[in-house]
Amino acid sequence: MHLTKALKEHADDKYPFHMPGHKRRLFADEILSDAYSIDITEIEGFDDLHEADGLIRKAQERAAKLYGADETHFLVNGSTGGILAAICGTVSKTDSIIVAANCHRSVYNAAMLSGAGLYIVAPRQEKSFCLCAGIDPERIENALSETSDEAGAVVITSPTYEGIVSDIRSIADICHRHGAVLIVDSAHGAHFGFSGAFPESPVALGADVVISGVHKTMPAMTQTALIHISRDCPSAGRIRAMLKVFTTSSPSYVLMASIDSMTDLIKEQKDELFEAYAKRLKSFYDKTSALNNLKVLKKEDLTEKGTWDHDIGKIVIKDDSMRLSGKELSDILYDKYGICAEMAGVSYVILMTSVADTDEGFAKLEDALAAIDEDLQSRPGSDRKTPVPEEAILPEGRYDNKMMAAMFEADAGTVPLEKACGMIARDLVTVYPPGIPVTLPGSVITDRAVRSLQNAQQCGLKITGMTGKEIAVLWERSST
Ligand SMILES: Cc1ncc(COP(=O)(O)O)c(C=O)c1O
Repeated sequence: MHLTKALKEHADDKYPFHMPGHKRRLFADEILSDAYSIDITEIEGFDDLHEADGLIRKAQERAAKLYGADETHFLVNGSTGGILAAICGTVSKTDSIIVAANCHRSVYNAAMLSGAGLYIVAPRQEKSFCLCAGIDPERIENALSETSDEAGAVVITSPTYEGIVSDIRSIADICHRHGAVLIVDSAHGAHFGFSGAFPESPVALGADVVISGVHKTMPAMTQTALIHISRDCPSAGRIRAMLKVFTTSSPSYVLMASIDSMTDLIKEQKDELFEAYAKRLKSFYDKTSALNNLKVLKKEDLTEKGTWDHDIGKIVIKDDSMRLSGKELSDILYDKYGICAEMAGVSYVILMTSVADTDEGFAKLEDALAAIDEDLQSRPGSDRKTPVPEEAILPEGRYDNKMMAAMFEADAGTVPLEKACGMIARDLVTVYPPGIPVTLPGSVITDRAVRSLQNAQQCGLKITGMTGKEIAVLWERSST
């Protein structure tokens, strides 16, 4: 089917509990609905994103003010562009970089490009939902000590895809004591700091660089994001230079205008929008707490050290009776109830919400979940169980950063996944979404990685970096 036709049919048919945060509703200026009529590139009088000193600069200043940042830049190729610039602007091959294992693949790609030595810090696992806990500040302190204060940067994701928030203030203090820049991938946290119902923004908590994905949780168009840089950030100048490297020379004015419109909207209607949003969420959590089989993640389910808070805007649901996998639950929501979820994992589904959701959308979701729950309740118990999710976390510690070289290694081929344990991966393999690496180029393929990928395949999830059931390896056996 033609792409445009497919988009139109989807838009008419399904309620979006996924990004973008505008939920396909026009929250911005009316003119943006007619994108063709205002689509230009840099022409006289319209400033230049790469040397902003006019219209764009003023718009970026408005966004900085809204987010309480010292300096903010527009990103038009998603949070990915900001992550690449932040990391490559802060560390180089003479440094090391500490990365939380559950970071997005863009963080690893940036670490690879920078050439910095990689040191991975693993989060604990929240057992109830089998997902990554927040990052324990003590683990960051230990990693900085183990790298003998050579690490130029620490990168963590907060909130995570599942809405898990780390203790940014403590982590920032530790980083600063050790002379490292704290980069927070807050791609999922652009709505923080606007209401007491949501956690504070990492910008206000002392992070040096924050990447804020406005297209994910705010009413702004796909690909829009912001990078906030603190005035105390020692690498601010290099990050600005790297933004020019990683950003197109023809940034879309439609996308930039969409960020500017979002900024105005929130400045003017923040209280009403967030009050209504928080009310919808509260009512949803109250109603769904009575379900018998389906379980919605709540802050009280999160007990591990490192987890500081939970973003209620991320709805994470699983079948506690383990008869439906995340993918099956997501398929039922889609096929039977016209609800499109953001992501389906082995055991749970993530639904993304924003200020642009409607009362009708939430009612549709609540009704669908009640009906699915009732159906599960009336079904006789069966022995069928969904696979137990495997923690797909890279081993903790120092990685020899030959990742880039491994990617271009000629002496590589593919082997069936079940035969790959102990071999060296050629590629970055992820289950997507969320895009957290299961293997890195040059890393040993662990037994756990194999099981986790097999589970994901069994559940019909999308894997990037593999060819069918084959995984690319270097023809050299690991000595470890
Ligand atoms: C935690 C996290 N960081 C970064 C990104 C990249 O964001 P973008 O797709 O806007 O480039 C994603 C994408 O889903 C993500 O989940």
